[in-house]
Amino acid sequence: MNILAFESSCDETAAAVVRDGRTVLSDVIASQADMHTIYGGVVPEIASRKHVEAIAGLADAALEQAGLGKGDVDAVAVTYGPGLIGALLVGVNFAKAAAYGLGVPLIPVHHVRGHISANYIAHPDLEPPFVCLCVSGGTTLIVDVRDYTEMEVLGATRDDAAGECFDKVARVLGIGYPGGAPMDRLAQGGDDKRYSFPRVHVHDAPLDLSFSGLKTAAINLIHNAEQKGETLDLPSLAASFAAAVSDMLVPRVMEAARRWGYGKIAVAGGVAANSRIRGDLERACAASGDRLYLPPLSLCGDNGAMIGCQAYYEYRAGHMAGMDLNAYANREIGVG
Ligand code: KG4
Repeated sequence: MNILAFESSCDETAAAVVRDGRTVLSDVIASQADMHTIYGGVVPEIASRKHVEAIAGLADAALEQAGLGKGDVDAVAVTYGPGLIGALLVGVNFAKAAAYGLGVPLIPVHHVRGHISANYIAHPDLEPPFVCLCVSGGTTLIVDVRDYTEMEVLGATRDDAAGECFDKVARVLGIGYPGGAPMDRLAQGGDDKRYSFPRVHVHDAPLDLSFSGLKTAAINLIHNAEQKGETLDLPSLAASFAAAVSDMLVPRVMEAARRWGYGKIAVAGGVAANSRIRGDLERACAASGDRLYLPPLSLCGDNGAMIGCQAYYEYRAGHMAGMDLNAYANREIGVG
């Protein structure tokens, strides 16, 4: 089954053709990051307009790269939430028109379920159940992936997403947008104990997370140093910051894995590219005996292939949409 999939939930327009869930025939992406860098973050209206310009060309490119024609498409899939509403609406409307025109089923895909699916593409042996740490610019969740389309949130951030914190601190440091990757590069060779940052625990909710205090602590440290004319050791600041993020994420996902007992941990989303978090998880899993599934860096960020992969499992579960499909800025992962 060939699924033509679209992703437009934030600042990347992406299209892909995925066969039978796990074989990626094509995966094309148009990033708008350069445009949003000027403003230090995503400007929603610009993002929507760029999706409008790019999406039809990407559909053609995805089919061409796959060596397929329009008649070879068996279903169309699209991210319908969560994300920026204007950006999502572009993808949803285009996918509806494509499914309508081609006379094929339309499959709605939850963005974070898509991120989890990136692991199925990277690891052909991976099957549910497993515990997944989903960390991106908009979400930080620990999820019980009971089955391909059956999921429950075990822990969630009460405020900012981890990626958002990397982005905000990078913006204050003036090292670019999105800030996670530049922060990661800056941290290499830094002393992770040089600066002391808070590790927050949520009372009575041991698997929940909170990052806003850490973000504020880092930004205050930078502003105070500026006011006093002090020079900060930036690699050590970035390394100490990454250590604090990782210290909040890794023990919680290990605790979830211990309690749920599947012996398998996956990681998903843009922040899954972070070298400190990957290293800490590798060490923790080596000690616990859990099998760790990390997506390659190319599949951590937003892409169309992950949507096409998850769409196959949604289709098999009978989850299809009518022509009245809408987009949702917020959508529970368990609802699908
Ligand atoms: O999954 P994604 O592409 O988009 C969302 O669905 O949100 O994630 C983007 C986020 C951004 O916050 C970006 O700064 C972060 O992933 N990110 C990283 C790294 N690479 C990307 N954060 C930490 N370390 C990285 N190496």
